Amino acid sequence: MARQGVASSMFAMALLLGIIASAPQSVDSIGVCYGMSGSNLPPASTVVGMFKSNGIKAMRVYAPDKAAFQALNGTSIGVLVGAPNDVLSNLSSRKAAASWVRDNIQAYPSVMFRYVAVGNEVAGKQADLLAPAMENVHAALAAAKLGHIQVTTSVSQAIVGVFNQPSAANFTKEAQGFMRPVLQFLARTGAPLMANIYPYFTYAYNPGDMDIRYALFTAPATVVKDGKYNYQNLFDTTIDAFYEAMSKLGVSNVSVLVSETGWPSGGGKAATPANAKVYNENLIKHIRGGTPRHPDAIKTYLFSMFNENQKAKGVERNWGLFYPNMKPVYPISLEVTPDPDSPAPAPDPESPAAAPDSY
Ligand SMILES: *[C@@H]1O[C@H](CO)[C@@H](O)[C@H](O)[C@H]1NC(C)=O
Ligand SMILES: *[C@@H]1O[C@H](CO)[C@@H](O)[C@H](O)[C@H]1NC(C)=O
Ligand SMILES: *[C@@H]1O[C@H](CO)[C@@H](O)[C@H](O)[C@H]1NC(C)=O
Ligand SMILES: *[C@@H]1O[C@H](CO)[C@@H](O)[C@H](O)[C@H]1NC(C)=O
Repeated sequence: MARQGVASSMFAMALLLGIIASAPQSVDSIGVCYGMSGSNLPPASTVVGMFKSNGIKAMRVYAPDKAAFQALNGTSIGVLVGAPNDVLSNLSSRKAAASWVRDNIQAYPSVMFRYVAVGNEVAGKQADLLAPAMENVHAALAAAKLGHIQVTTSVSQAIVGVFNQPSAANFTKEAQGFMRPVLQFLARTGAPLMANIYPYFTYAYNPGDMDIRYALFTAPATVVKDGKYNYQNLFDTTIDAFYEAMSKLGVSNVSVLVSETGWPSGGGKAATPANAKVYNENLIKHIRGGTPRHPDAIKTYLFSMFNENQKAKGVERNWGLFYPNMKPVYPISLEVTPDPDSPAPAPDPESPAAAPDSY
């Protein structure tokens, strides 16, 4: 109760001072998650070649990977690297965090690291380790003169309780505990919160609750009205629910970056190549315009590069854009068409200096 008072007065003060999320940079391509839970995936050097030939300018890897980093050396692909959940407890030591940064980041000076995501969908007691680990990694990067690499964490959409209308959204009781210090860290350092956003799962768990078109970006008109905001797709609803939940904790200047989203092509309800193509194509067209509450481009990583045969049986194995043999699961263009209103010169994809602020 007392905390709520503090939170709302902080929020009021933020409004008073006009502190709002600053406009993020342009999104000139979509990122793709390079999951490696497959026994039959091509070598990293081939995968990096596939990123280049498909015009994908950003990659998420879930843990440091020597072969991937060697293949990325000297390219202009921006990299989001995970500090996986099993190193979290180690990272609560400053010394261990410094050696993690030395071995996994500093060791690759010609890889364009953009973000370190400390932990992926961490929940329960372990989540209390997040903020201190993020502080330590941030301090280690700063000490190594790599302070431009932003430190964050990637959370599940499940930490936001209800979001039929974003204004009703709140972090769950458990998540409020660990999100407070995480968000304070992000607000202080200017890093975004990363969220894994899955309209597919929201739909598939309760298919009777909604028209699938709301999940696929194909609804012909507003589906959810929330005050003056009109929602036509569940992706926007979910992202704005995060913004609303954050503002209820008094934080209104942290932006949301989508660290995973996608649609499976098999193994579950409505999981077909046709639906996956519709979702991902519409997503790519959509992200530049942002959400009703935050009309700035949304940095987004598609999940995932490959179908991964070491994931749980069923839908989990079928998120790939490509089969392990490198054939596309369905035809799709991953290049975001340039904004006709703000023509920008095409950056040289091989020149790191050409893409200063993307991903
Ligand atoms: C990485 O690339 C840089 C220049 O882009 C080059 O000088 C360096 O030798 C490369 N390192 C490795 C390990 O290939
Ligand atoms: C944690 O740190 C210890 C000591 O530096 C190291 O031996 C161990 O491998 C680390 N654990 C992980 C999961 O990296
Ligand atoms: C959201 O959480 C805050 C903080 O715990 C609580 O005070 C508030 O009543 C909740 N709001 C809603 C709409 O559930
Ligand atoms: C976000 O707002 C808080 C106060 O509400 C402030 O301390 C912090 O510097 C702001 N962060 C950024 C990146 O502007």
